[in-house]
Amino acid sequence: MFDNRNRYGTVTRTLHWGMALLILWQFLTVGARTLAEDSALDDFMWATHRPLGAMLLVLVGIRIVWALINLRHRPPAVNPFAKAGHIALYVLLFVVPALGLARQYGSGRTFEPFGIPLFSGFEGRIDWLVEPGNLLHGSLGWTLMALVVGHIAMAYWHRKQPAQPDVLPRMWGRKD
Ligand code: HEM
Ligand code: HEM
Repeated sequence: MFDNRNRYGTVTRTLHWGMALLILWQFLTVGARTLAEDSALDDFMWATHRPLGAMLLVLVGIRIVWALINLRHRPPAVNPFAKAGHIALYVLLFVVPALGLARQYGSGRTFEPFGIPLFSGFEGRIDWLVEPGNLLHGSLGWTLMALVVGHIAMAYWHRKQPAQPDVLPRMWGRKD
């Protein structure tokens, strides 16, 4: 269940791959909106962007707590860049949906992800909650996407370079 110095454990792996799938879907919703705005595909996919985004915020909260519990006994970063990259992923995984959710609340509109009445809505709007999201949610979301592409490329590169440690087995495959 827990991580050790050679491998990530079941909980970390479940969070990593489960969230990777949700984030991939999240990017597909943005892709449909960018490439096929107002199409049936866009309508269908965009309806999931906010509820899934809210769910990702809850999951990243759990993931941060779990990472802190395992901090002293998880595989060490292969170099300072890998460490910085992972920290940047965590920061964006939190900040991007947090900005989206804050803007949603500040807009005064009701928000019921998966039928759960999270925000009941109110008259007017709270500018200081809306503006940061307007300014940064989209651009930081795209930055997260670029970082994920870089992350996958680096995992592949480490696997292919004989002089580098293969890090994939830490997150995938046998757990001894
Ligand atoms: C990890 C979670 C999330 C990711 C990766 C993400 C990513 C993105 C990206 C990349 C865009 C820009 C689309 C464009 O340029 O047209 C966007 C737009 C948007 N997102 Fe999210 N989002 C997330 C969570 C949320 C949440 C929780 C909400 C609200 C509850 C939300 C609401 C919106 C809205 C309303 C837009 C359209 C306005 C805009 O471009 O800022 N998102 N999202
Ligand atoms: C949205 C997609 C992804 C995000 C946000 C993400 C994020 C992260 C983070 C934050 C870590 C550090 C360990 C942790 O705290 O969980 C990590 C580790 C890792 N990820 Fe991903 N990941 C994603 C997708 C992928 C994919 C598709 C691959 C497949 C190539 C991959 C391969 C790995 C590997 C091999 C490690 C271990 C690296 C090491 O310990 O040096 N990740 N990932």
